[in-house]
Amino acid sequence: MHIERRTPQNTAIVIVDPVSDYAGRFRSHSVEENVNVTVALVKTALGFGLPLVVTAMSADGPGGTLYRRVAEALGDHPVVRRLRCFDAFDDAGFEKVVRETGVKHLVIAGLLTEGSVLQTTLGALRRDYTVSLVLDAGAGESEVQHQAAVARLTKLGVIPVTWLSLATELQRSYQYVETVDAFYDLLSQSPIFAHTSTTRPTHHDLTGQPASIVEMRLAHDVHRLASRVLADSATRPDAPAAALRQVRDFLVTTLRHHHMSEDEQLWPLVTSLVPATAEALEALTEEHELLEAALTELKKAEINDGPRHSSFAEVAARVLTWFIATSSARSGFCSRSSGSTSRCSSGSSSSTSCAAPTPRLRCT
Ligand SMILES: [Fe+2]
Repeated sequence: MHIERRTPQNTAIVIVDPVSDYAGRFRSHSVEENVNVTVALVKTALGFGLPLVVTAMSADGPGGTLYRRVAEALGDHPVVRRLRCFDAFDDAGFEKVVRETGVKHLVIAGLLTEGSVLQTTLGALRRDYTVSLVLDAGAGESEVQHQAAVARLTKLGVIPVTWLSLATELQRSYQYVETVDAFYDLLSQSPIFAHTSTTRPTHHDLTGQPASIVEMRLAHDVHRLASRVLADSATRPDAPAAALRQVRDFLVTTLRHHHMSEDEQLWPLVTSLVPATAEALEALTEEHELLEAALTELKKAEINDGPRHSSFAEVAARVLTWFIATSSARSGFCSRSSGSTSRCSSGSSSSTSCAAPTPRLRCT
């Protein structure tokens, strides 16, 4: 049996609608998993040099806002904007970009499985592409919807794959040194690792740490967990409205207090001790301001028993997305440790490690 091996010469990756607008609309996978795996897929394409085609609706309309971490991973890689069509091949610009990759096999992923992903995959089959569908880089409104779409497509010859199985096939062996660094980088940022490190209180060795560091760590873990509980429960009609309101009020009140204390008290103190941290801390304050709009909406959202307003689930998902986006590398105030390296313990974001002379921020 001839089984073609996936290579950058014969395969392109197509990601359909990796947008935060849909974060409150699916339950087959968690938002974190969807973001993490999509980022991993982008890095797989860029790291192994596969043609990558990303499409989303128009940037200023619904369905147009990319997940922030996906946008960061893409950098200046172009996004093919399309209007309205679920089958992206109905957009002439998209069809042309895919045709120009010159490959006949597409690895397709995105949102939602039973929506634009299904229609775009059918569009690809009608044009005689062969297709692999990345099951863990997509999601459906429900598990049934996701699986029904997958079953329909696999009956038509679509090959089910996962992000890691694709990366492993591309790398083949550790002996291929040209790409092994990219492969190691992918493994070190495995979505499951990212999932556990961003949403669960992990065991930190806080022995001997000052109480302020321990308390800061605890505050971040609690906020992350509360945002996840709220986003998950917001989509469940059986979750009591009173309990949802309680979690919502707790999250909004304590987050606001926490960020205010950082912006107004902690950052000025740190800046007065280590002036070079000013720029990085200002960036953290800007992140806090970005979240504030979502918190205001969340606070105003109506929460009733029974079927939920989708706007409540959407804004709860947006708050969770903020945590995911800002937790790929946690940060906070830096305290100088031995040598020229400083480490941080707080919890907004910045993606670098601390090294003199410019203090840079990273999670411990
Ligand atoms: Fe913080």
